[in-house]
Amino acid sequence: MSVKISIKTFGCQMNVRDSEVVLGLLKNAGYIITDDSKKADIVLFNTCSVRQHAEDRVWSEIGTFKDTDKIVGLIGCMAQEHKEKAFERMENIDLVVGPSDIEKIPAIIKKVLEHREKNKSKDLFEYKIWETDGEKRPDEIYHSGFYEDKNHAYVVISEGCSNYCSYCVVPYVRGELKNRKHEDVINEIKEAIKKGITKITLLGQNVNAYKDKNVDFVELLTQINAIKGLDELSFFTSHPKDTSVKLFEAMRDLEKVKKHLHLPIQSGSDRVLKLMNRNYNRNFYLDLVDKYRKIVKGGILSTDIIVGFPAESEEDFKDTFDLAEKVKFNSAYIFKYSPRAYTEAAKFADSISKEEKEKRHAAILDLQRKISKQLKK
Ligand code: 5AD
Ligand code: SF4
Repeated sequence: MSVKISIKTFGCQMNVRDSEVVLGLLKNAGYIITDDSKKADIVLFNTCSVRQHAEDRVWSEIGTFKDTDKIVGLIGCMAQEHKEKAFERMENIDLVVGPSDIEKIPAIIKKVLEHREKNKSKDLFEYKIWETDGEKRPDEIYHSGFYEDKNHAYVVISEGCSNYCSYCVVPYVRGELKNRKHEDVINEIKEAIKKGITKITLLGQNVNAYKDKNVDFVELLTQINAIKGLDELSFFTSHPKDTSVKLFEAMRDLEKVKKHLHLPIQSGSDRVLKLMNRNYNRNFYLDLVDKYRKIVKGGILSTDIIVGFPAESEEDFKDTFDLAEKVKFNSAYIFKYSPRAYTEAAKFADSISKEEKEKRHAAILDLQRKISKQLKK
């Protein structure tokens, strides 16, 4: 068999890792992996639903494959969000597979290929497969040993999220929080080290909520820190409500753990934080940052901020601006609010105009650029 497959990845590091996992499975099933989607027989789009902009890019890229006879697959968050409706949106999609069904991809592709072989002509809507009902992924998929980098690996510790921040689609497309067993995580890391990996980044939507039997996130860090052959360990993302002094002490004491905390604030206004269902307030966050800086000397701090959340007043925005000015993040990702299917916030009117969102986005970006530059000096 010499079928060539390529994956185009959109969105976060979780997707980067998922694409690797899928490529590992496909490679072991005998497919040839290529970076060049033009030369591939099968092109998979591993997608992100977190903002509309990300989705628009995917639909338009899939459109560019319309007049080819390539097999096109929609996988990842948009697959889960749109399910079989994706076939109506883009006629050239052949398969749709959600994030909790990725282990089925090799078998699904085999079916599509067999069908094509039997029915040489390709009629639209003739044969479409979708899988979006999966639950927990089988752990074997993380052990194919396929990593894009020679010395760095992303390692998933938990899938999904149960926080239901009111703007966020993740719990609906990736399901509720599911922790991997700590033994499985440790084994994957040991296997990766045998292959020459020396740096690990642990991934989860909220790593601090990790819990497997009596092993919480700090205990997991401690056990991984002790693995021979590992040089560097980092992790994200941390939710402020689950982040504690215990984590900061571990960051200080565990020599392999990188002193970098990604701690999304989202908004500096208590009123907006409440509407976002974030479960902390401004003072709690400021106090946490204070403790972090006292305990983890020289620690880097980064964040995510959303501007233009429904009914975010000028006053609310000023609170966010003021917080960014006070905290002086080393870096910040600043996003314009985008209403998402299924979410609570989508029920509120998206009341801040595009222009106003642009204005607030530009103002805070400008402030952050100056701060980042100053801190680098
Ligand atoms: N609109 C804008 N930004 C969002 N994020 C999540 N959902 C939305 C949304 N609906 C941002 C948050 C999160 C980051 C990954 O994406 O800041 O931390
Ligand atoms: Fe989304 Fe909130 Fe979960 Fe992050 S913590 S993935 S923003 S629901």
